[in-house]
Parts: sequence; structure tokens; C-alpha cells
Amino acid sequence: MPDRSVTVRVPATSANLGPGFDALGVALDWFGTITIRTSDSPQTPPEGSMERMAAAAALALLDQAGETPRGLSATYEGDMPVGRGLGMSAAARAGGLVAANTLLGNRLTMAELVPLAVALEGHGDNIIPALFGGLQVVAEDEGRHVHVKITPPADLRIALLVPEFSMPTEESRKLIPTNLTRNQAVHNIGRAAMMVAALTQGRYDALVTAVEDIIHQPARGTLFPAMFPIFEGARAAGAHGAYLSGGGSTIAAFVDPATAEHVANTMREVAAAHGVDSFTRVVSMSNTGTEVIDR
Ligand code: HSE
Repeated sequence: MPDRSVTVRVPATSANLGPGFDALGVALDWFGTITIRTSDSPQTPPEGSMERMAAAAALALLDQAGETPRGLSATYEGDMPVGRGLGMSAAARAGGLVAANTLLGNRLTMAELVPLAVALEGHGDNIIPALFGGLQVVAEDEGRHVHVKITPPADLRIALLVPEFSMPTEESRKLIPTNLTRNQAVHNIGRAAMMVAALTQGRYDALVTAVEDIIHQPARGTLFPAMFPIFEGARAAGAHGAYLSGGGSTIAAFVDPATAEHVANTMREVAAAHGVDSFTRVVSMSNTGTEVIDR
């Protein structure tokens, strides 16, 4: 494969939305860029984690297509925080896959990228919105990842509190109970369904109930004791509800544009009172996923 490069724009994503563990995720209006370059001479492996994951994903697709290049490098540009529950591994891998597919002349459709994307990522609730944008409902069906995209509401914002510490997803997943009672299952089934209904119907009054989760957040809260006080602070400041984004440590609160900054500042103050340094950012949900911007 000759020297070529493709640059793609990739979004951060927020998974779970409270009760939708491994089932719900949304693309955010917070983007970075990934560039994949192939060359005829071997390249030194990239050092950054984003670059490594993007390069590995690109190489996996090129290998699968029988087009392994002699050299491949990746660069990432952006200010999206790594290791904070905002889907950076998904963004890197989605970027690597879409760039590599572009180098292959779009031999695969976006839908045909999903099996490899999910295999690399392990679950679909970040990488599917990273690829396609929007609010995505994801379910595994005998190894196949079925997903339905919902256009996210334009009049709602998400206030993000990004702590300075990271919560490794694989470690925190080990804390999550493997068995649930029927009552616990019913609790989360109703709320995950209500989350989709509330966002679709503009019933933001129902989000305070819809964000509640008893599958993964209580376990992850043991690693982040300020989490529930921050949820309460967000709610008291006017948020419709708050949840742990993906595996954490970012906390996401559904907010109206008018109260967004106040909620964000309140969450930062509550975090600081618990000894947690953080920064905040207010974002919209994005209906677009990974897009090629230069080839
Ligand atoms: N659903 C995943 C989790 C998202 O909660 O572990 C994190 O990548």
C-alpha cells in the first residue's frame, strides 16, 4: 500500500445513561481528529494510548482485508480527556476503522464495520454512537450487535464534570454483581426504557427517575465516594438527573441550557468539598459520529 493518509473527526461518547448498562450510549458534541498514514517503510509504534488504539484498529481492518501495509502510523489531535468514561478507546478505534476503510476505498459499509468494532471494544454502547452518532440503543443477539439510532433532543444539554482521576473500566466492571434479583432487573428495565421514552418525547421531568440505576453505579460508587453527593448537588442546582458516564469517572447531568453552567459549577463545588479536583464542560448531544475530513 503506497504512502497515503486519511483524517477523521471522532466524537466523545457517554454510555449507560444510568440504567442502560452496556445498552445505551450517546455521541457528544466534543470532537477530536485521528489521522492514519500508511507507508512503504516500517514506522515506529505510536506512544500515546489514543494513537496506539487507533493504529491497532486500522491495522486489524487492513489485515482482515489482506492489505497489510509495511508501515502505519496514527496521530490524535484534540482535548477529549482519556480514561474518564467519555469513550476515548471507542473514539480511537472508530477513527482507526473508518480511516482504514477509506484507505480501502470503502470496501465495507459502516454497518459492516460494527462486528470488528465491537470485537475490539468489548461492548457496543460507546463505539456504536462513536461510529454513527446519535443516541443508540444496542443489544447483542447471538453475537450480532443490533442497534437503533434515535436523534437526540436539540433543546437539552449535558453538563460534564470530569474528575482529575481515572477509573479503569475493566477493573470497575469486575466489581459489578453478576446476578440480579427479579426486582432489581425490573427496576433497571423500566428506567432504561423510560430514558429512551423521556428523551424521545421531551418528558424531561421523567429523567430524574430514568437515570436511576442499581446494576453498576452502586458498585462503582465504592471507588468514587463523592459520586452520589455530586448527583444530589446537580439535582439541587436544577439538573433533570445525573449519572456516571460509562465506567467513570466523568459525571454527566441532563440540563436545560439556562441552568447548565450553574449545575456544572455546583457539581465542581461539591466535588471539591469531597477533595476531588475536576473541570466541567457543557455539551450538546451529537447526531453525527465519525466522519472523514481529509483524504
Ligand atoms: N457499558 C460500559 C461499562 C461502558 O459501563 O463498563 C464503558 O466503556
